[in-house]
Amino acid sequence: MHVDVPLWYRDAIFYELPVKSFYDSNGDGIGDINGVRLKLDYLHALGADCLWLLPFYNSPMKDDGYDISDYYSIQPEYGTLDDFRLLLAEAHSRGMKIIADLVMNHCSDQHSWFREAVSSRESPRRQWFVWSDDASRYSGARIIFTDTEISNWAWEPRTKQYYWHRFYSHQPDLNYDNPEVREEMKNVMRFWLRMGLDGFRCDAVPYLFEREGTTCENLPETHAYFKEVRRMMEKEFPGTILLAEANQWPSDAKAYFGDQDEFHMAFNFPLMPRIFVALAKEDAYPIVNIVKEIIPIPEKCDWAIFLRNHDELTLEMVTSEERDIMYSEYARHPKMRLNIGIRRRLAPLLDNDRASLELVHALLLSLPGSPVLYYGDEIGMGDNIYLGDRNGVRTPMQWSYDRNAGFSSADTEQLFSPPITSPNYHYGNVNVDSENRLPTSMLNWVRKMLSVRKRYAQVMGRGSIKFLEHRNRHVLSYIRSYGEDRMLCIFNLSRKPTYLELSLPEFSGLRPVEAISGAQFPRIGDLPYFFTLHPRSFFWLGLTEPTGSDEEG
Ligand code: GLC
Ligand code: CA
Repeated sequence: MHVDVPLWYRDAIFYELPVKSFYDSNGDGIGDINGVRLKLDYLHALGADCLWLLPFYNSPMKDDGYDISDYYSIQPEYGTLDDFRLLLAEAHSRGMKIIADLVMNHCSDQHSWFREAVSSRESPRRQWFVWSDDASRYSGARIIFTDTEISNWAWEPRTKQYYWHRFYSHQPDLNYDNPEVREEMKNVMRFWLRMGLDGFRCDAVPYLFEREGTTCENLPETHAYFKEVRRMMEKEFPGTILLAEANQWPSDAKAYFGDQDEFHMAFNFPLMPRIFVALAKEDAYPIVNIVKEIIPIPEKCDWAIFLRNHDELTLEMVTSEERDIMYSEYARHPKMRLNIGIRRRLAPLLDNDRASLELVHALLLSLPGSPVLYYGDEIGMGDNIYLGDRNGVRTPMQWSYDRNAGFSSADTEQLFSPPITSPNYHYGNVNVDSENRLPTSMLNWVRKMLSVRKRYAQVMGRGSIKFLEHRNRHVLSYIRSYGEDRMLCIFNLSRKPTYLELSLPEFSGLRPVEAISGAQFPRIGDLPYFFTLHPRSFFWLGLTEPTGSDEEG
């Protein structure tokens, strides 16, 4: 296999984890950097190539670290800079990479920058934030945290002006019109990249600049700034990447790739909810339509595809019809909803149905883009909708059936969050250790699938996609091709068994080989190829030239 080092992210499997929730190495009830390091062998054996760590910087933790009070240090409970250096070194020695979340749009109101800015209107820091006498400016900007905020302006009583914030009011937006801010954020990036970090998942990228008469999202100035950041990284830290969190409509999301001179990757927010809509409707079209809209993208860029993450499953960028389907299918209890979205983990969303869970993973691993797994989903972890905000999907990782799910040796009362104990998802049963012992477990299945995905990394990671025409709307089928390699992927989205006739004249003479087991299927001939499919089942079939030794039967 030809290995193209600078394009490593195109073939990689990403794994997202909150340091706090992963493993507590010192028994204080809170996960830490050393804990992540101690679990690197697990992550490596699972098949993770690159870890994405949620914010670990100093923070008052009013938005779980997305409210940073010092960009150059680590939250003390999580560890030290030396712990972080060691984590990087040990990840790199296993051939793994690490990217970190970076919150660029805003900081905490506890940051010294903001404290100085509110000390007087004359403070040199004043212009690091966005001020107004009048809370009606920029009225075209939507409110994102609709459950908690009623305005993007908050009153600052001491200096008697409003400041601008797109998220919580304790997260004042930085003023990117100020060159000092633009330079400082590049210095922050340099600090971590110099340490050996492999890139950033940039938080909330659409919102850096504000302009009257616009939605204050995706402005040309924002794109120009990220291009400047990209140039800096390419020059000073070649091989490192930028991944955009831009929850936008397809064309606006795609724009973050620029002309291969902006972000290397962007989350595929348009695709994610449509996978769930397709399952609810038992219909392939929501996926086909959105994939046709989101490709092609430039050669050196890639989508980061995901099923779930640490936030609510956002429904901001879907039609109202799609939103209604999502709420009625996946959020029947009001506690399952948050802002414009659904705060649930993957397994509970799919009623813990193993076939459906396998199906969505098979989609995640075979659609164009690099897959991003969310910690715990590989073992089918549950959630707790009674915890506030998005905490219900950030509970302790379940390592074993020991006390505290093997996450921590602290007293249970001391844990940052209770582990999941509801009967169907209890850590006594759903945990790494137990699943390791059971050959048919979700964990062993996911591990196996990741190894298959790696075997076909190029065709799955870089190949083109072509949807196949047929009459059965319940079935999604496509061919991924890269060079001589071809993979035929077929998914039954329905809850019932079904059948499919596929006419495959261009592949006549080739033999389908089931990718997971190596089982051989009859050669493709001139007649339509016939498949029967169990409910929510799938096939990945490599199409190969038959050799003399693989005779029929
Ligand atoms: C992003 C993060 C989310 C956070 C918000 C504000 O959307 O994913 O967790 O609350 O930005 O920083
Ligand atoms: Ca700890």
